[in-house]
Amino acid sequence: MLWILCLALCGLLTRTRADPGALLRLGMDIMNHEVQSAMEESHILEKMAAEASKKRPGVKPIKGITNMKVKDVLLPVISLSFTPGVGIFQCVSTGMTITGKSFMGKNMEIIVVLNITATNRLLQDEETGLPKFKSEGCEVILVSVKTNLPSNMMPNVINKFLDSTLHKVLPGLMCPAIDAVLVYVNRKWANLNALMPVGQMGSVKYVLTSIPTTAASYIQVDFSPVVQQQDGNTIELADAGEAPEFPADSAEGSSQLLLSAAFLTAELALLQKSFNLNIHETTIGELPPQTTETLAGFIPEVAEAYPKPKPLVTQIRINKPPKVTMKTGKSLLHFHGTLEMFAARRRGKTPVSLFLLEVHFNLKIQYSVHEDRLQMATSLGRLLSLARESSSIGAFDEKELTGFIADFLREAYIPAVNDVLQVGLPLPNFLDMNYNLAELDIVENALVLDLKLD
Ligand SMILES: *[C@@H]1O[C@H](CO)[C@@H](O)[C@H](O)[C@H]1NC(C)=O
Repeated sequence: MLWILCLALCGLLTRTRADPGALLRLGMDIMNHEVQSAMEESHILEKMAAEASKKRPGVKPIKGITNMKVKDVLLPVISLSFTPGVGIFQCVSTGMTITGKSFMGKNMEIIVVLNITATNRLLQDEETGLPKFKSEGCEVILVSVKTNLPSNMMPNVINKFLDSTLHKVLPGLMCPAIDAVLVYVNRKWANLNALMPVGQMGSVKYVLTSIPTTAASYIQVDFSPVVQQQDGNTIELADAGEAPEFPADSAEGSSQLLLSAAFLTAELALLQKSFNLNIHETTIGELPPQTTETLAGFIPEVAEAYPKPKPLVTQIRINKPPKVTMKTGKSLLHFHGTLEMFAARRRGKTPVSLFLLEVHFNLKIQYSVHEDRLQMATSLGRLLSLARESSSIGAFDEKELTGFIADFLREAYIPAVNDVLQVGLPLPNFLDMNYNLAELDIVENALVLDLKLD
């Protein structure tokens, strides 16, 4: 009985501990930029001014002052700070000038400076699964009140005015402004969990693992990305053991995106079939002619079987999903498969297999970002193993072929791999992020993109 309970519990535990495939840390630089641009997009300033000039039923006129108007609303200055475990504390400092005529016929001006504060709680929208800010506890705080009214009139009139107008009316006037800005910030998450194609081969979806969390200097969003083949099959992310982590030395307040090696491996599995290749050309780059004669220079048995030179045809089949590994500063792509060489025959006749080798080799990966895609370019790392599986020309020492095959991979195969990789891997689409300025860093089991604003 107990072991059933343990199975269930342990299952749950491992599931909740599952490594997120991607992590996003948003520092104050990006949040400030987003809120500021949302403020501009929402035209909130104009709306506040229009609202403020409207006649309101609850507002009592000030005795002895006529023709009251809100003249201008000051450009709001927004300051944000993280509230750990909750979200973002937002303070909008603004002000307005209220004009009117005093009973003596004099122009009167009251300049009010105020702060509107609220806590924007970070949640996950139940319907869409997207991050969402919701404001709570909006308050209006008077910072200063200045007026040109005669000083003997001041305390009384101003107190009444503050009481009836500012304290009662301003929150209703100003707090919707905070909400209106949040609508725009929230909208910038809208495409985050959209299906993004990886060429024709499949797609990636950045699904949130859990509700985003707020720390003292950043917001963290954990993703469990769904990598899916065109036919709908999901490619599971391999459990990497230890969850990858952000480098400890990342600058305070900065923003980063971390992509785990397991996630990149799952994405490249989508391309596995595209890495299979048949190469017929006899002249390739710097290589000697791809003929049985050249091959006979390494394996004399070929000359016996083919006294007259024949063109070679090479077939590469990748029979395990390619694997991405990362160590500080270095990333490799591992390929396991077969390399079969054929001697071509006259037209219409199928080529004859000379031999089939099991191969394992790795490629060095160089990462870059182009628009919203991660790009990879590879070069040959090492040919790690070469084992003869079959041969029509008798036994031979395949080690003799190491240099020949390595050159072939470098000149003929890897350029084709790089062509396939040009589809690029989609990066999460959020807050109109421009990835072009990102600085890339390879850490233990992950790639870290240091996000910069334009
Ligand atoms: C108003 O907000 C500004 C900017 O955040 C802050 O420096 C100031 O202390 C606030 N004043 C009051 C009275 O809360």
